[in-house]
Amino acid sequence: MNSFEVTASLYDSINGGLYPRYADFLENCFGLFSKIKVREVLDLGCGTGGITRLLADRGFDMIGLDVSPEMLAQAQRAQRSDILYICQDMRSFELYGTVQAAYSSFDCLNYLASKDELDRVLALLRNYIETGGVLVFDINTLYRYESVFSDNSFVYEFGKDMLIWQNSFSKTKKTCDFYLSLFREKSGVFTRHDEKQRQRYFSHKTICGLLMKNRFKTAAVYGSTDMTELGDKSEKAYYIAIAE
Ligand SMILES: C[S@@+](CC[C@H](N)C(=O)[O-])C[C@H]1O[C@@H](n2cnc3c(N)ncnc32)[C@H](O)[C@@H]1O
Repeated sequence: MNSFEVTASLYDSINGGLYPRYADFLENCFGLFSKIKVREVLDLGCGTGGITRLLADRGFDMIGLDVSPEMLAQAQRAQRSDILYICQDMRSFELYGTVQAAYSSFDCLNYLASKDELDRVLALLRNYIETGGVLVFDINTLYRYESVFSDNSFVYEFGKDMLIWQNSFSKTKKTCDFYLSLFREKSGVFTRHDEKQRQRYFSHKTICGLLMKNRFKTAAVYGSTDMTELGDKSEKAYYIAIAE
């Protein structure tokens, strides 16, 4: 049900400005928290590869994994033979070898449908991250779902094209449905393309419990990529966990 067919071509226009700061954050985390030297890194849910490329530029051997052929097609446009992109579902992924670090950026893990799925993904990550290596991910907070996404709509303009993003958050199920409609202009005629995505909220308790179950030690939780404290109004929680 999660489709990135429409948004893939616009994704970097919306989020691209945030990639350099995120890459700095990841590099800091690898340096501060990993107990082993980080050379090989998995970008789980790499999307269009914006952060993957920045880390490759900084000398890391990058693997970008994503389930969406449309997002990976955008990533491939940069024609980087030094990055291995693989089209796989994170719930059942397989790598050729181990890595010293992995990360999942821009709330990819919120696309998992249940605690069981998150458990399975963390188990796979632990299989592939060497002991002493580090896992970094961000996840949307309840504040973001209840007060920012909520049932609100957002409009983005790209030249003549327009993207309308409508949200519907279920307080009981703790799921947020995104309805995205892109109106694309060609020779004065607008064509409408729709797609739907669903995210799920995971509590701090659930995440910490599943990290521990899968032999990860939670080393830090921040409220931003500037490593500020997580607060009541943080929209995202950034977890750093060490593979034990
Ligand atoms: C919000 S985008 C984030 C992309 C990228 N991490 C970034 O920082 O720009 C979420 C990504 O998660 C991917 N994704 C969602 N569910 C997935 C799954 N089960 N397996 C692999 N990738 C998945 C989507 O295809 C999409 O590219």
